[in-house]
Amino acid sequence: MLLLRAHLLDAPSFGSLRSIPDGGLLLDGVSIVDAGRFEELAPRHAGIEVRDLRPHWILPGLIDLHVHLPQYESVAMDGLELLPWLETHIFPGEARFADTAVARAAAERFFGDALAWGTTTAVVYSTIHAEATDAAFQVAEARGLRCVMGKMMMDRHAPAALQEDTETSLRQSEALIQRWHGAAEGRLHYALAPRFAPMCSPALMRGAGALSEKHGAFIQTHLSENREELAWVASLFPEASSYTDVYARHGMLNGRTLLGHGIHLDAPERAAIRAAGAALVHCPTSNAFLASGIMPLRRWLEEGLPVGLGTDVGAGTTLSMWHEMAMACTVSKLRWADTRGAADRPLKPAEALHLATAGGAKALGFKDHSGTLDPGRLADFLVVDARQPDPGQRAEDEPERILSRLLYRAQPAMVKAVFVDGRLCHGTLP
Ligand code: GUN
Ligand code: ZN
Repeated sequence: MLLLRAHLLDAPSFGSLRSIPDGGLLLDGVSIVDAGRFEELAPRHAGIEVRDLRPHWILPGLIDLHVHLPQYESVAMDGLELLPWLETHIFPGEARFADTAVARAAAERFFGDALAWGTTTAVVYSTIHAEATDAAFQVAEARGLRCVMGKMMMDRHAPAALQEDTETSLRQSEALIQRWHGAAEGRLHYALAPRFAPMCSPALMRGAGALSEKHGAFIQTHLSENREELAWVASLFPEASSYTDVYARHGMLNGRTLLGHGIHLDAPERAAIRAAGAALVHCPTSNAFLASGIMPLRRWLEEGLPVGLGTDVGAGTTLSMWHEMAMACTVSKLRWADTRGAADRPLKPAEALHLATAGGAKALGFKDHSGTLDPGRLADFLVVDARQPDPGQRAEDEPERILSRLLYRAQPAMVKAVFVDGRLCHGTLP
């Protein structure tokens, strides 16, 4: 057991910050077993080792709900929109993962950098290659973070080097589920990953949905990101009433489905997503980078759609979820500047922190396990030096001010230590 003393900050509900300036966090094994004001905790746990981390802060670990491991090294290639960007900058890099040694080295860099930014849970797309995906799971296991991952699935309209046949894709996915879903004391999970409707046959989508149901695995895909993509989907699936309906009619919408983007959704699509219990992943950096649009985030949230945040590297430009939270606020302000509608009020940093922690956990069905600093949750948390992003290097105590700086001026050096399941995965205790 270990009692940490620091300023505690989390966002258990949307819009509220919970701040305990002189806080205590008691760890036992993988869990947080007590939390609150230090002066109340200390007598309850007399004799337990105390580490005084003040003036550092403790926040819940950050949850990146949508990111492409093989695209990290193709990141930030400006100039194109979604479909030509995939062809020009992304597919050649993904094809290199046929070499498992390349894939393993890339996974080391990817997970190392994600952890260094404070990401304790990542929902990841690998490439179509089963061996590369297996290697990535091995690296995730060794690094100790929580990870939901799956090999990319695509059996049509893909470049020759990345096109699979339907049966092989499903068979290899199922073998990976059997090996990794629930592995590493429950830190690793499998997510079937049919890339998006234009590159998946009806049989592949149906098969992925069936495997998700059979094994309780997650399913992740892209939805309604870009106008050209929407037109392509409409031409391929004339019988479907919408893009969302394509996934619904192929059995891909369930309570473990994560839908990346969801920018241009009509009311029946939103109703179908809500009814299925699926979640949307807002990826504002990517959406700006590829000129895809601005998701009406507050509208979707007010309708009761579960939404989390994703970096979507390599259309997102960094693995930093701090940056992603800041971008969610920034693009919401641009939308607000245009509409001035009540339902488009700008997103606040406290709201963004909720989406990147408890909101992400809820989207994954992990809300009773992670996302806040409550007793009973798994000990996934960060030790942060809040003086770092302040040019004046002050140790302020006001949580809204601190959080705003952490988001808008994030730098790797401010993340001092990263814990997952109570284990130190990055940095050192200051
Ligand atoms: N749609 C299909 N594949 C992708 C991808 O790799 N990135 C993004 N942003 N959108 C996609
Ligand atoms: Zn993506």
